[in-house]
Amino acid sequence: MAVSTITPPRTDDWWRSAVVYQVYVRSFADSDGDGVGDLAGIRERLPYLRDLGVDALWLTPFYTSPMVDGGYDVADYRDVDPMFGTLADFDAMITDAHALGLRIIVDLVPNHTSSAHRWFVDALAAGPGSPERARYHFADGRGEHGDRPPNDWESIFGGPAWTRIADGQWYLHLFDPAQPDLNWRHPEVRAEFEDVLRFWLDRGVDGFRVDVAHGMIKAEGLPDVGFGTATTGQRQVDLLGRARLPYFDQDEVHEIYRAWRPILDSYPGGRMAVAEAWAETPQRLARYIGPDELHQAFSFDFLDATWSADSFRKVIDTALAEATVVGAPTTWVLSNHDKQRHVTRYGDGAEGLRRARAASLLMLALPGSAYLYQGEELGLPEVLDLPDELRQDPAFLRTGESRDGCRVPIPWSGELAPYGFGPAGSELSWLPAPATWRALSVAAQAGTPDSTLELYRAALRIRHEHPALAVDAGEVTWLPAEPGVLAFSRTAGTTALTCVVNLSGAPVAIDGYGEPIVASAPLTDHLLPIDASAWLERR
Ligand code: BGC
Ligand code: MG
Repeated sequence: MAVSTITPPRTDDWWRSAVVYQVYVRSFADSDGDGVGDLAGIRERLPYLRDLGVDALWLTPFYTSPMVDGGYDVADYRDVDPMFGTLADFDAMITDAHALGLRIIVDLVPNHTSSAHRWFVDALAAGPGSPERARYHFADGRGEHGDRPPNDWESIFGGPAWTRIADGQWYLHLFDPAQPDLNWRHPEVRAEFEDVLRFWLDRGVDGFRVDVAHGMIKAEGLPDVGFGTATTGQRQVDLLGRARLPYFDQDEVHEIYRAWRPILDSYPGGRMAVAEAWAETPQRLARYIGPDELHQAFSFDFLDATWSADSFRKVIDTALAEATVVGAPTTWVLSNHDKQRHVTRYGDGAEGLRRARAASLLMLALPGSAYLYQGEELGLPEVLDLPDELRQDPAFLRTGESRDGCRVPIPWSGELAPYGFGPAGSELSWLPAPATWRALSVAAQAGTPDSTLELYRAALRIRHEHPALAVDAGEVTWLPAEPGVLAFSRTAGTTALTCVVNLSGAPVAIDGYGEPIVASAPLTDHLLPIDASAWLERR
């Protein structure tokens, strides 16, 4: 097993080509045996991530929270939930990470607070018309008795986006009722988050992942959408990313980022922000990125691409064209904590795994940065058969759809669940790992030549070392290929690296493309099997 000794780029724009590993904190590593992952657990496992060859970690929220939405309901933005540790644990973790050359991106949740946040508690107590209520969206209901919601907006998690409280007023929550939306037209809200940014920048974070970055500004007057589940049977959320809703992607949201950027830029070392933003077109998404706004925005079209050469080719071309326009490289992602894992999306079982490995190799050959989701380097599938009573995603109760299956604690070692997730002898994990994961643990895969873990390690090592994959190496040049096959090369000087992906139904000859240096499936007689990718080199 080769261990990477590469130091990540030290330049201020390290993020342009970074491989960022998403840590879903409560499911990564549990240091104290309570069945929940924590910051000390991450700290212990940093050498694993260094050896994997990633450049940075993105940590999902670990702040004080009632955990109604897995921590995306923040009660105190400046503290660590006791479940995850303490601020001292955070400081120790980031110090170690930096010493290992790993950068740390934290999640910022500005669209809404927890209903347990002091501001919301005060707002409830203060009553209608109070300054405390002005920080959120409180309104009177419609109808003679005010017993209908103020408008027709729907929660992303299902049902109306409004909840009525005892004194008769309603408040807005685009997600769970435990996540009231802040009023970003209020100066105190803006000042507060600028201060929260500084709080974490002062603690040394290298960047932020901005949650619901398209959501903070609501259209003036909170106008109706005009249709929805109640009237037309079509859920408003299904239009996310296809139409402009009055609660998303409003022009004034960009003022917020124009205020944040100078704050990020005032710190040394290249502090960055990546938007989780959904917009109607790639052009509107691009408006979040630039020298005076955020550095990156996730390109979810790649994640949404279906298993076909045309589908991948189209999203890649669109994303690359967009990157040229905004002058920032694309941000590729195949899996995260909100989406079904890509092994399962591509068919599950052996077929899904084959395709997932091929797609990962494709992603890692593209210019730009790549966001990996914990466990994808182990080829983990979605857990589809969690008992309903164990599911914790608030969306599950409201819509029957649950994101718990991609959030199961990852397997590290050993014969018994939860496979080394906790300290020796600990049997607890907040969601149970399936028995099949014994064979997928880090220990089971490390040093095993054809394992998914070793594939990721090899690909990440080459990605760091190979001049043709460097940040300023050549762009993507598509090469002629058989139907159903994608082939592109990138070059640096006289060296070319070609990535071939076989999405056709038959093995394909690849000897014309160069010498294979890594492949997602064994190559025999210079044939790339179906559902496989290879990188080939020509010097
Ligand atoms: C996060 C979700 C979360 C939601 C509300 C999303 O963008 O990724 O996990 O439920 O925001 O904060
Ligand atoms: Mg723990």
